[in-house]
Amino acid sequence: MTSSTSPLSLIFSLLVYVVLPLVSRSADSDPLQDFCIADLNATVIVNGFPCKPASAVTSDDFFFDGLSKEGSTANIFGSSVTRGNVLSFPGVNTLGISMNRVDIAPGGMNAPHWHPRSSESGVVIQGRVLVGFMTTGNVFYSKNLTVGQMFVIPIGLVHFQQNIGEEKALLFTAFNSQNPGSVVASVNLFGSTPSIPNDVLTKAFQVDANVVNGIKSKFESSTKCMEF
Ligand code: GLV
Ligand code: MN
Repeated sequence: MTSSTSPLSLIFSLLVYVVLPLVSRSADSDPLQDFCIADLNATVIVNGFPCKPASAVTSDDFFFDGLSKEGSTANIFGSSVTRGNVLSFPGVNTLGISMNRVDIAPGGMNAPHWHPRSSESGVVIQGRVLVGFMTTGNVFYSKNLTVGQMFVIPIGLVHFQQNIGEEKALLFTAFNSQNPGSVVASVNLFGSTPSIPNDVLTKAFQVDANVVNGIKSKFESSTKCMEF
């Protein structure tokens, strides 16, 4: 056996050509057929949704008008995110893509949140918006954007969009996942069910229980939603 085919170099080659590409795969996996319109009523859900029978598929399954409607911004954040993910638009099932519409009232913001399964890109359609994200090393990157300008948020990083203009702001965002998931930091920590014990939060945020209870009271009626 020559040195180039020693067991060590074989293991190294295996690592480089087989294991590393798997480790670096971050988006949803590729489809194994042309399409697979999600059957949202299926009783068995493994890692995504099974396909509805091809004989039942129609043109309507590939179109979605949910993002044409302005969302209500009458809430504590003054913003609304309308999702075009697999749960609202079953046509994206297995395709590894989805989109959102984000409406933000003057003075409002899409509060700090992250997507555990996707990077995000977006474009401002109307208004002026401060877009920012924080890295795992606590570096804050941000920019004021106007109509037509784009941004990108790397997968899993906390980010927000704030309306810094006088008029309402509108953005469209796109994801490399059919179901990016969205965790809103404040709601997640202070509005969970059951509630996170106060001594965890007082220690984590270095404040007293009154402050924690005050913040919890803002989020105790938060919608509890089942995320897949
Ligand atoms: C914006 O950040 C979005 O998640 O749509
Ligand atoms: Mn986002």
